[in-house]
Amino acid sequence: MRLMPAVLIFATMFPLIAFSQKKLPTFDVQGHRGARGLMPENTIPAFITALDSGVTTVEMDLAITKDGQIIVSHEPWMSSDICLDPSGNAYTKREERDFNIYEMTYEEVKQFDCGSLGNSKFPEQVKMSVTKPLLSDVIVAIEDHIKSYTRFEVDYNIEIKSGEDGDGKFHPAPAEFSDRVYKLLDEYLPLDRIVIQSFDFRVLRYWHEKYPNIRLAALVENKRSVKAHLEELGFNPNIYSPYYRNINQEKVMELHERNIKVIPWTVNEISEMLSLKGMGVDGFITDYPDRAKQYTNTLNIVPKNK
Ligand code: G3P
Ligand code: CA
Repeated sequence: MRLMPAVLIFATMFPLIAFSQKKLPTFDVQGHRGARGLMPENTIPAFITALDSGVTTVEMDLAITKDGQIIVSHEPWMSSDICLDPSGNAYTKREERDFNIYEMTYEEVKQFDCGSLGNSKFPEQVKMSVTKPLLSDVIVAIEDHIKSYTRFEVDYNIEIKSGEDGDGKFHPAPAEFSDRVYKLLDEYLPLDRIVIQSFDFRVLRYWHEKYPNIRLAALVENKRSVKAHLEELGFNPNIYSPYYRNINQEKVMELHERNIKVIPWTVNEISEMLSLKGMGVDGFITDYPDRAKQYTNTLNIVPKNK
């Protein structure tokens, strides 16, 4: 009886502490391809680095192998910019499309080293021997790391990379691609932690119809108006994700009036981060999550077992 009031007093004094262990900050810093500025893109080390930098969302791109495996890769081929062939040799831009992931088994994809070459556009990126991972392995690695080392369950911003020209050649058509991805995600993650993004509006329309419970982000690169993009899409997505130079405060306000969040890409300079935050965006996608720590204050890498 005497204990009850003390417990209640404690609970009313510290509710924020209790909640802050679980709740994500509202400003959403997304680690682009994990943390491309720091680690080989779209690899497990890049995603772990993103988590340790305090991101609230991990951003990644998907491709599909001949044997139906979903892998994390920006291109549906083995890019000559970042990969070495199975003998450890570089190859040319002209040759890279011969290594079409949709015509390779995952065993074949795994023979390529996509980390030792580095990336000339990102000189700080650590060089290491690493292969393109399976989406399932990425999720398992991220969730294990969260369990052991971080306070926050991050969201996943997953891009389905497709286009009409590539249907049946570099990837399946939208319905098959999407159904495969949904099946895997449903098996591995709570669906409320997922956003599906695409430049391919066919993909977004498919998810809107078939999986209406999944949040969607419309990626746009051109300078057309918000109204034109939304009319083309045919519905209001949860998130509008423009190239960061094509957004301004008016557009942010217009989108917010429609209850659509604004998350531009790919924002790498601190001055750009500040300017976009000033416009009222809801987050941004960056290759350098380490430069964005101040926006999330989630940098809390505490080994939970210690
Ligand atoms: O998610 C936004 C951004 O990733 C789009 O550009 O080419 O890096 O996939 P890209
Ligand atoms: Ca992407």
